Amino acid sequence: MSLRVLTGITTSGTPHLGNYVGAIRPAIVASQSTDTDCFFFMADYHALIKCDDPARIERSRLEIAATWLAAGLDPERVTFYRQSDVPEVTELNWLLTCVTAKGQMNRAHAYKASTDINEAAGEDADAGITMGLFCYPILMAADILLFNPHKVPVGRDQIQHIEMTRDVAARFNHLFGQGSDLFVLPEAHIEEHVATLPGLDGRKMSKSYDNTIPLFEGGVKALKDAIAKIVTNSLLPGEPKDPDNSHLVTIFEAFASSAETAQFKDELRAGLSWGEAKKRLLDLIEHDIAPMRERYEALMAHPEEIEVLLQTGAAKARATAAPLLKKVRESLGLRPMQAITVPAAKAEKKAALPLFKQFRLDDGLFYFNFIASDGRLLLQSQGFSQGREAGLWIAKIKNEGVAALESNTPIALGEGVALSDVADALMVLLAD
Ligand code: TRP
Repeated sequence: MSLRVLTGITTSGTPHLGNYVGAIRPAIVASQSTDTDCFFFMADYHALIKCDDPARIERSRLEIAATWLAAGLDPERVTFYRQSDVPEVTELNWLLTCVTAKGQMNRAHAYKASTDINEAAGEDADAGITMGLFCYPILMAADILLFNPHKVPVGRDQIQHIEMTRDVAARFNHLFGQGSDLFVLPEAHIEEHVATLPGLDGRKMSKSYDNTIPLFEGGVKALKDAIAKIVTNSLLPGEPKDPDNSHLVTIFEAFASSAETAQFKDELRAGLSWGEAKKRLLDLIEHDIAPMRERYEALMAHPEEIEVLLQTGAAKARATAAPLLKKVRESLGLRPMQAITVPAAKAEKKAALPLFKQFRLDDGLFYFNFIASDGRLLLQSQGFSQGREAGLWIAKIKNEGVAALESNTPIALGEGVALSDVADALMVLLAD
């Protein structure tokens, strides 16, 4: 069996060099291995939680799809789709919502970070927080469990979400799995050997720090301009530089072989100027990126072609998801009427026993009937003013058998019923 790998990319921004090195490149490399079955999708429902600008949402989905395809994702090998094209995701989301403890969501980091900020600002803890943010981890669990992957490559900030997914899956299996596991418990996969790419200022490259190097947007000029802004020290050309304390070198390393890196470091120690070092870095990155940028631009010029690929991907994803979702629905009791076998058998077994049935009529009096297993009315009481009286008579009949009925009693035999019929039925009932 091949290993199933699934990951989602939130479509709220434009991919930068850090995204490429940290997520896109390793995912594509992993997808090229023959024994993996990859599901990569654009988490555009998740993007709605962070972003309420429709133009940004639309643009980001296009840029991210074009980036992944240009970077070498093969849609024939990988199931590549948009979350919002797979309605099974939202359906499973609800089914999982119903087994997820609210207290567990209260503890989710993303939600807690927001309430902490509110509280620090003296506001109501939930000010400005949507149910989308609060339930974010459940939607993510639905994304994952719908495809039962073994491995989910994510960044460290997502580990808690994978743990929550495992919890929800285990609870669901326990409550509704009837001994067989509906859901696979996925493992988070952190790419240990992929360094986090530093940004222009040396902190982690991130849009929120405004220190990113663009991947394709703006062409080679934008790449060159960004590299020019990488912060270095003021050592002059010819002065020896410490390559082990330079984030420029770390960025270089992410694109170079170890031999190339070793040589670059030696040259810096020997006094290579920062200007020349930046030129080398530009050439190195450009060597990898230029052919992809060409594909990116061609794809961006034809969004309708990307649309076709994504629709095909969604159809593939739905074909995989539908059988599991059907099982999940059925496990919860959401099944076609004729498929109700277990409860029906139980009901029949009950009907197979004779039964005393107590009831109260409009006259306010209490009655009971004794009904045979075939539904025939064996005994019918008169009305009693107290429910307790009816109960006492039933107990007496059970204890004494038909002898209780022999003298003048408030209980009549049903039509065509003999005392021996009642005796037989009592035996069946009491033997059970
Ligand atoms: N929340 C993830 C992130 O921000 C994106 C995501 C959504 C995801 N659904 C997923 C990742 C399912 C892995 C699996 O990075």
